[in-house]
Amino acid sequence: MIHLAPSILAADFWNLGQNIAAAEAAGARYLHIDVMDGDFVPSISFGMPVIASIRKKTDMIFDVHLMVSNPERYIERFAACGADIITVHVEACRHVDRVLQQIRACGCKVGVALNPVTSLHTLDYMIDMVDMILIMTVNPGFGGQEYIKTSTKKIQKLRTRLNELGLNKDIQVDGGIRKNNVHVVLEAGANVIVSGTSVFSGDIAQNVKDYLEIFKKYEG
Ligand code: DX5
Ligand code: ZN
Repeated sequence: MIHLAPSILAADFWNLGQNIAAAEAAGARYLHIDVMDGDFVPSISFGMPVIASIRKKTDMIFDVHLMVSNPERYIERFAACGADIITVHVEACRHVDRVLQQIRACGCKVGVALNPVTSLHTLDYMIDMVDMILIMTVNPGFGGQEYIKTSTKKIQKLRTRLNELGLNKDIQVDGGIRKNNVHVVLEAGANVIVSGTSVFSGDIAQNVKDYLEIFKKYEG
């Protein structure tokens, strides 16, 4: 199943509730929530109070992407404020195995993120522990960047590897995805598509519908 995960990083925060409601009404089921700490990545975004307040108003799947150093400090708190999926960066954890167990113990789905130059080999000893692998298609930290083209091969390789292992896991892609290049990542084997700028700029409902229409061509 292919999912669109609109990233609220690109939303208008004055109208955050309306922006989310528009995406949900148009058919988006996931909501991608980018938490940045100003240490793992250069920018700072938002955290638990924002997530807790939107949690009260929607039952979308909260897909929390932690761009945070040593995220083990916060897993329980993100689970408590409403995360459904928690994704941590391998580059940000000293003991990745332990952090993944911690996420599972909170009852959340487990995601692991790889920066653009982090090798897929990193996944070898954790693949059974995760539900979703996030292949960063930009360097994390900011919305509105250009898709890094070497990501395509990486997504293909990962999907091939998962198929060889008989594992049906989600491959999420994040960064620089637009309506005019989403076919590239779908063809490569990604099935959870994050998009910030190209969902929240202009007509949100129409953007979501356009994406879902494109997805239909790739659904079996
Ligand atoms: C980047 C974030 C992304 C970002 C994507 O660090 O993880 O989720 O919001 O934004 P666009 O779709 O604008 O590239
Ligand atoms: Zn993200």
